[in-house]
Amino acid sequence: MLNRESVTELLTGKDSTKRKSRMPARIDFLQSASGLILAIFIMFHIVFEGSILLGKEAMYTLTKMFEGEPFIEGGEPLIISVLAFIIFSLFVLHAGVAVRKFPSSYREYQRYAEHKELLNHSDTNLWNVQITTGFIMFFLGSIHLYMMMTQPENIGPYASSDRIYSDLMWPMYLVLLISVVLHGGIGLYRLIIKWGWFDGKDPKRNRQRSRKIAKVLVTLYLLLGLASLATYMKIGYEHRDAYGERYVPGSEK
Ligand code: HEM
Repeated sequence: MLNRESVTELLTGKDSTKRKSRMPARIDFLQSASGLILAIFIMFHIVFEGSILLGKEAMYTLTKMFEGEPFIEGGEPLIISVLAFIIFSLFVLHAGVAVRKFPSSYREYQRYAEHKELLNHSDTNLWNVQITTGFIMFFLGSIHLYMMMTQPENIGPYASSDRIYSDLMWPMYLVLLISVVLHGGIGLYRLIIKWGWFDGKDPKRNRQRSRKIAKVLVTLYLLLGLASLATYMKIGYEHRDAYGERYVPGSEK
């Protein structure tokens, strides 16, 4: 009997089963591509945010640059909202296509756990870390991005430090930082292996090398992020009695 699909096949000459089977590969590509863009974004984000280590003036100047101050007098925080919205959309897309990899029932989880014990393979452990950090980021990443979309004017050496110290956001940032660095580092490593980017003539050796580089990068980014967070907390602590007051350019002693 003719159904809708076979009629479409007759009319278009295309095989609908073939069309269907391409979907998982497309979704897989979507996950890799969105993950890669987000990982690159985070690498820049942690470096830019580390500008606080160079002083309040450096962080203020960079914030204003992102607000388009060279072109718009005084800067336009709406630019940050738009950027945060674009990143948030990618974040949702990436998470949305990733949920299909979560164990969908307790039985499936048990099967996975047994499998993991049997294999005790380091890549299975990496997968476990990815699932856990990804789950954490669902919530914490959304809180952070929502704040950045709705209060873009509250970014700066004092505004950010007040939020981190006086508004008690530092525990959230600490957990988010560890999760995002581990997730991004492991994600990039898995992308390199999956698509064989640097396999060259000796894939085994080059994969081991990629793993080492990923470990070094994760450590460096964690140290940089922790140093920045500690600096924001110190500034926030010193500024606690003047909570809400904004940084005035050129006022740094
Ligand atoms: C366009 C989007 C984003 C903007 C404008 C932005 C901006 C900021 C700013 C200004 C801070 C300093 C603290 C504060 O003011 O509250 C910060 C910290 C942080 N952001 Fe973002 N962010 C964005 C996206 C993301 C995403 C997608 C993630 C990860 C899911 C992320 C993770 C973090 C972490 C972990 C910290 C704290 C790191 C540390 O203190 O060392 N951010 N972000």
